[in-house]
Amino acid sequence: MHHIDAADIKGFDKIFRLNFVNGLPGFKSANLVGTAAPDGLPNLAIFSSAIHLGSDPPLLGIVTRPAAVPRHTYQNLKSSGCYTLNHVPVALAAQAHYTSADFAPGVSEFGACGFQPVYRDGFPAPYVAESSLSIGLRLLEEHAISNGTVLLVGAVEHVYLREEGLRPDGTLELVALGTAAVSGLDGYHAVQPPTRFGYARPGQFPAVQ
Ligand SMILES: Cc1cc2nc3c(=O)[nH]c(=O)nc-3n(C[C@H](O)[C@H](O)[C@H](O)COP(=O)(O)O)c2cc1C
Repeated sequence: MHHIDAADIKGFDKIFRLNFVNGLPGFKSANLVGTAAPDGLPNLAIFSSAIHLGSDPPLLGIVTRPAAVPRHTYQNLKSSGCYTLNHVPVALAAQAHYTSADFAPGVSEFGACGFQPVYRDGFPAPYVAESSLSIGLRLLEEHAISNGTVLLVGAVEHVYLREEGLRPDGTLELVALGTAAVSGLDGYHAVQPPTRFGYARPGQFPAVQ
């Protein structure tokens, strides 16, 4: 086995380290975060840091990078208190990736990257019309991490999804929804249907296939 320790990582070239460490969590979720500025300009940015924090109440986290430069998602989300997470469709991964480019203030990534903002049920943040699963969240908590990043905790207020995406037991058909996965900083994947094993209980060691 190739052994890499913390000192090696510290000594890596910056880009090499960025690529290497960003790959360590394995496959990550791909979401477009939709927000609106106080003047109404919709903003869109790809985030791969969405995490499940609890089901009752339903809470999701995202991690935002240090606010050393203006971060439109963070600013908008702080001012309106609301944001949306929209699954990236595999077919639109290139456009979704393009939202990470540093667009000038006043340019909406929706228009620049070919996505349509849609407002639903009076919620102040825009959803992505092309996404087959979208979530409306309200900012609940903010937690500073020692490296300057911030964990934003959001309460799930709305979920919209295409009907074929919901199984009778509440699990999601992410493959049918066309949801992409991300690896590292720029890898986008179409995934295979899952093998499901149900709730794991002691004494039910799986039979050798
Ligand atoms: C695959 C991928 C995943 C990303 N994930 C995050 C993330 O989880 N958090 C974050 O702050 N930025 C993330 N970014 C960077 C943002 O997309 C980028 O900084 C974007 O320009 C932010 O836009 P904004 O200034 O409109 O908020 C990611 C970029 C890519 C390409």
